This record gives sequence, C-alpha cells and structure tokens, in this order.
Amino acid sequence: MHSQNASEETKNRSKTTSFGYRTVLEQDKESLVKDVFDSVASKYDLMNDATSLGVHRLWKDSFVSILKPGKSGPMRCIDVAGGTGDIALRILDYARENYADRETTVEVADINGQMLKEGYRNFKKTMYHNTPQISFHEANAQLLPPSQFQDDTYDLYTIAFGIRNCTSIPDVLKEAYRVLKPGGTFACLEFSKVEHPLLSTIYDQYSFTMIPLLGTILAGDRDSYQYLVESIRRFPPQDEFARMIREAGFATGKDVDGGAWRNLWGGIACIHTGVKA
Ligand SMILES: C[S@@+](CC[C@H](N)C(=O)[O-])C[C@H]1O[C@@H](n2cnc3c(N)ncnc32)[C@H](O)[C@@H]1O
Repeated sequence: MHSQNASEETKNRSKTTSFGYRTVLEQDKESLVKDVFDSVASKYDLMNDATSLGVHRLWKDSFVSILKPGKSGPMRCIDVAGGTGDIALRILDYARENYADRETTVEVADINGQMLKEGYRNFKKTMYHNTPQISFHEANAQLLPPSQFQDDTYDLYTIAFGIRNCTSIPDVLKEAYRVLKPGGTFACLEFSKVEHPLLSTIYDQYSFTMIPLLGTILAGDRDSYQYLVESIRRFPPQDEFARMIREAGFATGKDVDGGAWRNLWGGIACIHTGVKA
C-alpha cells in the first residue's frame, strides 16, 4: 500500500511544472498561459514598450540582423509563439531593405488566437498584408500539426520570448528540428541569466517592483505581469539551454558568449542558435 502511494506520488510529481513561481500540473499550464496572453493581448505591444523602456525593440532588431534573412536568397521562415508579429515584420523588412527580397515568407504560429488577431491587425498597416509573404496560424509549438507544418520545410525557425511559456522545452525543440530543412537555423531570443551581481540586483529590483506595478497601472492586470517576471527566473541559464538545443540534434557553437549563445545587455536577454545537421 505504502509503495503504491509512493509511486502514485512520484507519478504526480513528474507531471508538474512551473507556472512562474507556482508549481502546477502539466496539463493545467497551457490554459493558465493562455489566460495570461488573452488578458494582455490588446495591450501587449504598449506594455512591452513600457516595461522594457523600448529596449525589446533593440533586442529584436539585433536578433534579426544577426540572422540576416534573405542574404543567401529568399527564405521560408516560421516564427513560433510569434504573437503580435514583431519578429515576422522585422524579418520581412530586413530581407527587403538589405537584399531587395520580396519573396522571403514568414508563417507566424501561436497558440493564442487573441495575440494572432493583434498581429494580423498590425500587418494590415504594412505592405505585406494580403501577400503570400505573411500568414498567421493558431498552433501549439510543442505539437505543430504535421499536415500543416511538414518535415524538412523551413530555412529559419525563430521563437522570441515564447519558449519559456511552453510546458515542455524539449518538445518545442523536437518540433523545431522536425520542421527545419537540413542545414536550417533554429534561433531563440529569450530572457536569460544575468551574470554580473550588481546588474542582476538592479534588474531584479526593477522587474519585481516596476513590471507588476506597470501591469496594474496600464493594463489593470498585476497577476499576468507578475507571472511574466517569475517565468523569466525559472528559465534555464545559457549553458543549460544550449545543452538542451544540442540534445534535440542541433549543432551549436561552444558554450561561451559569442559561441552557442550571444548575450544582450549582460544576459538580460540572450540569443541561442543551432543548425540542423
Ligand atoms: C511574450 S509573447 C512573445 C510574442 C512575440 N514573439 C514577441 O516577441 O513579441 C509569448 C507568446 O507565446 C505564445 N505561446 C505560449 N505558449 C505557446 C505554445 N505552447 N505554443 C505556441 N505559442 C505559445 C503566447 O500566446 C504569446 O503570444
């Protein structure tokens, strides 16, 4: 009896995951994350600017300029957890402005219809609206429908500030590997670990006080912003995430800044890349 209880306990424990600083059942995380993004969708872009003091734009610019989409000719790209379309727009702009490329395409996939709706609306203001260069799809990063997102299809897979919200990082990486062409690039922009102790303290002070406060004042939603800050601290540090990327089959650089990853602002954010063998 005792051993049965113990094994039940172990089974239940293995089915839990983090939701910010809370431990929740794996099957509950997706709907909790969905609630967060349903709640923030209409204010997401404004709040991103307010909480990061506009810095997220610089990070996203760096992310895309490192990847140089369009440099070797038009690319087929997928931007997963693409939300309101920030990365997709930058990819298309970069390819057009630098290489006169109007054939690169981006498929934005996100689990949240509200976020995609905002993205679709943002794109209406651009020259890409109603062209084959952009499309929006409701889909789970952990299980992209294979009929829609086929094996060995994409030259570039991007995911920005999205993977930490997913229940299983290995499942996301496995899907990224599946849909990329051999030689295709996986690229992730995510909050990460700040190495410098003073910067880390200042950053913690700012994020745990200012971000939930701004969430309350500007969006009337403290809890969602508290979750967003906590989820950052729960995400694996640079070297651990690089190891997970390699375990999914990707080749990466060495485990140093400038190798498997590139830190932005001392590691507040970080870009990891890997190439499908
Ligand atoms: C912080 S937003 C980032 C949006 C956009 N990439 C950006 O950089 O502005 C995180 C996004 O991840 C999406 N997301 C969370 N879990 C997901 C999952 N399992 N599959 C796909 N998208 C997911 C959310 O709906 C949300 O749009």
